[in-house]
This record gives sequence, structure tokens and C-alpha cells, in this order.
Amino acid sequence: MMNEWWREAVVYQIYPRSFADGNGDGLGDFAGALDRLPYLAELGVDAVWFSPFYRSPFLDGGYDVADYCDVDPRFGALADFDAFVAAAAAHEIRVLVDIVPNHCSSAHPAFQAALEAGPGSPEREMFIFRDQPNNWQSIFGGSAWTQVPDGQWYLHLFDSSQPDWNWANPAVPALFEKVLRFWLDRGVAGLRIDVAHALYKDPLLPDVADPKPSDRPSPWFHRSELAEHYRSWRAILDSYPADVFPGRRTAVGEFWGDELVHLAPYFAPGGIPQTFNFFLMAAAWDAAALRETITGSLALSAGSDVVAPWVIGNHDVTRPATRYGSVERARAAALMLLALPGSAYVYQGEELGLPEVLDLPDAAREDPVFLRSGGARLGRDGCRIPLPWSGTAAPYGFTTGTETWLPQPDGWGPLTASAQESDPDSTLNLYRSAIRLRPPGQDFAWLSLGDDVLAFERGFTCVVNMGTSAVRLPPYDEIVLASGPVESDLLPPDTAVWLR
Ligand code: NOJ
Repeated sequence: MMNEWWREAVVYQIYPRSFADGNGDGLGDFAGALDRLPYLAELGVDAVWFSPFYRSPFLDGGYDVADYCDVDPRFGALADFDAFVAAAAAHEIRVLVDIVPNHCSSAHPAFQAALEAGPGSPEREMFIFRDQPNNWQSIFGGSAWTQVPDGQWYLHLFDSSQPDWNWANPAVPALFEKVLRFWLDRGVAGLRIDVAHALYKDPLLPDVADPKPSDRPSPWFHRSELAEHYRSWRAILDSYPADVFPGRRTAVGEFWGDELVHLAPYFAPGGIPQTFNFFLMAAAWDAAALRETITGSLALSAGSDVVAPWVIGNHDVTRPATRYGSVERARAAALMLLALPGSAYVYQGEELGLPEVLDLPDAAREDPVFLRSGGARLGRDGCRIPLPWSGTAAPYGFTTGTETWLPQPDGWGPLTASAQESDPDSTLNLYRSAIRLRPPGQDFAWLSLGDDVLAFERGFTCVVNMGTSAVRLPPYDEIVLASGPVESDLLPPDTAVWLR
């Protein structure tokens, strides 16, 4: 139990293209990230999770992997990755890497070999080729099948550049076992598993009544084979020494469900140690909805050795400051997030209170969601803007060059890390304090302070006012932290406090 550090860890998500650029080309890289390690140490995080940095054509931001065991030259080389892991360890920061097991890039040598070898070959058996497509839809829009010149079709739940692996073929799990060991042997503390609820498909590939993408159990999501599969990955993780830094190895699965109950199977004992639970992130600024999802989530992990870390943002969703309607709410939500029992994930830029950028020019957009929907869906580029580090105009210290891979907006000067560092009331300093002061342990009890108030006891009291009028606080000795101005015992709307 002792070295199950992830049970209460704060993990910072680095989206490498947009974190920090060290070589002046306008795209983030390991050299840039290394320079910013003191910033992460000051923030107080226990670990970082890197979104994919592997060799890739980058048609889905690197979630289209062409070589799982190498660093894309855009980000540096394996030696730069190793240097980051070593330097992070000196700050007691662990590193998690993103494993993408459902699909690879069509540029992956195995897929190229499958195209070359033709129908009926063992190479094609690595993927899901058929003579006829069924009616499944891509999550990014359009059909989930693409035809190749010899007439066969291959399945891709995402972009056509992301063919799905055939997990029913034992060669595929064998390949991924090597990938896991490759990174674990390099000293990573764990893995984030992309679309962890996919992988196995119904071998009959049946047409479905409603092909509209959803996250409920289906012939492609939440298949029963996953339980045994993740037990085998857990065994690999547990086979690594636990008594030296980074401690016991972990994994966090990206599991989406339409209902909480869809995630229940992943909490069976011996599964992978952490199951993302996106219901908190999906809930609106509404005390009743948040109460319900928090209660349901705590119930899922009660009595299980699998925990559900809390999260309010990532590289796939609208940033909290925009989604909740204001930066004040995002700050209050941060105090909720960091007061809940267990582990929390923070997506880069959340600690700066960055808003979503909604007015990117169409020509700058790269997300396949935008491209495949013909622009009908804006996609996720707006939450992936390169971080503002310093200065009053783009590129805000992100790069020593002049351009950034996505343009940064005007007016972000006050949001830069360096501007916020010197302001005691900044969102950055709120996050730093909250991470330092967050209560340990698993105790949790709801307090009832009114329908629009989210309040709970965790050794100290966390109160979030989600209503439209001020709320009277319960008696207290001290305000430990507040997300905005509080006068005596009245908590204004859209504000949170931690009380003792
Ligand atoms: C989930 C990742 O978070 C997302 O960014 C990606 O597009 C899909 N999986 C496909 O890999």
C-alpha cells in the first residue's frame, strides 16, 4: 500500500506540442519541457503524463503512432526523453507515458506490410480487414471503414489514418507487451492507456441498430475480454520493483462510458490501478449534478483496489474557464477538484486559468474532428494552444522563434506564468497553494448547506457556491484558501473556500 503513490497524487498532463519549445521551431519538445521542470516542481505535482511524443505523421496530434518505441524528431531523441525522466526524478516527479493500443498510424510498418501482403495474409490479420464494410461510424465522423486499392476495407474507429489493431490475434498483445516493457525498463512510473475501453471487437462485426458513436457497451466498446487483458497488464506493472523511485508502477485508463455503471467492470480487483472517470468533467456548473456524480464515483471505487482520479479538463475537451462560463467558476472548481479524496489530474494551462480559444482561423486548425466533419464540429485545437510563459505578446515566451504551431491570441499577457507568479491572487498561485494544502486521506462526508451549494468535510470543510446569491458559511476558525474575495461569513456566488 505504502508505495501506491498514485492513490493521492496530483498528475500534470503535458501536451508536448504546446508545453514549451526548446529549439525555436514553434513546437514544444523535451528540451523545452526540461527547462520548465522547476515550474512543475514549484507547482508541487507528483507526476507528469506526456501525451504521445512517438514517431508519427501527426494526423491526430500523435495519437497516430508510427513507432511506439521512439521519440519523434520533432520532440528530440530518446536521450532527451531519458534526460527528462532523470531530471524529473531529481525533483521527485514521476513520468507517465501514453500508450495507444487501439490503433496505430497507417504509416506504421505493420500496416504498410499488411497493405503490401494482400488479402488473406498473416500481415492483414494484424488489423481488421474485410471484403465488405459494416455500418459502424468513426468517432471523428463518417464511416469507420476505408477501402484499399485491392478492394478490401479496414476498420478505424477514429481517423482513416488510424487503423485498428486486431486484438484477437495473439501477435498484437505480444507486440504491446514489448512496448510496455520498453518504457517501463526506461524508468517510467506508469502508463496512460488511450481509449482503454476499445481494443477488442465483436469478431462477427455485426451491423448495429444505431451506429451513432456513443460510449455505451457495443460490439466495439467495453467488451468482456478487457478484464483479463488488463489483469495481464497489471501483472506486468507489478513485476517491476516497488521499493525504489518511482515506486510501484501504475496505469490510468481512458475509459468513457455513457453511464457510471459502464465503468463498473474496471473496478474489479486486480484491474489496472486507475480508471479515469470523466463524469465530473462532463457535469455542468450545477451542485446537484456534481453531488450525484461524486457520490456515484466514490461508490464505484469503495472497497476496490482500483481508484478513479478526478479530472476537470484535458486535451480533448473545452477548457474549464470557458465550459463553466467564467474563470471565477474555474477557480472554484479547482478548489473542489483538489479537495476531493484521492488523485487529481491537471491539464497544462488549467493552472493559468486559460480559456478555450474559439476563434482560430479555419486554415490553422489541425484536429481531424474539424477536418472530418467538414468544419461542422470545431474540434479540440482551442484547448491545445501553446502555453503563454512570459511577455505581453505572442509567442509569450513559448519559443525563441516567432511562430507557434497554433496561433496564440492577443491579450494573454496577464495570463502568462511569469505575470501570475508575482500576483498572490493569481490562478497559478491558487493552484500552488491548493496542491500544497490539499488534505490527505480518504475521509469524506457531505454537508448540507443548500441546494446550490456543494459542501463536504475532509478534515477541513470545502464549500462551493454554485447559486446566484451569497451563502452563509458555517462557523469556522480560519479560511485556509479561497478562490475569490470572501467577506466574513458570506460566500459570494461562483466562489469556493476551504475552512478550518
Ligand atoms: C483519445 C485521445 O485522448 C484523443 O486525443 C485521441 O484523438 C483519441 N483517443 C484517439 O486516439
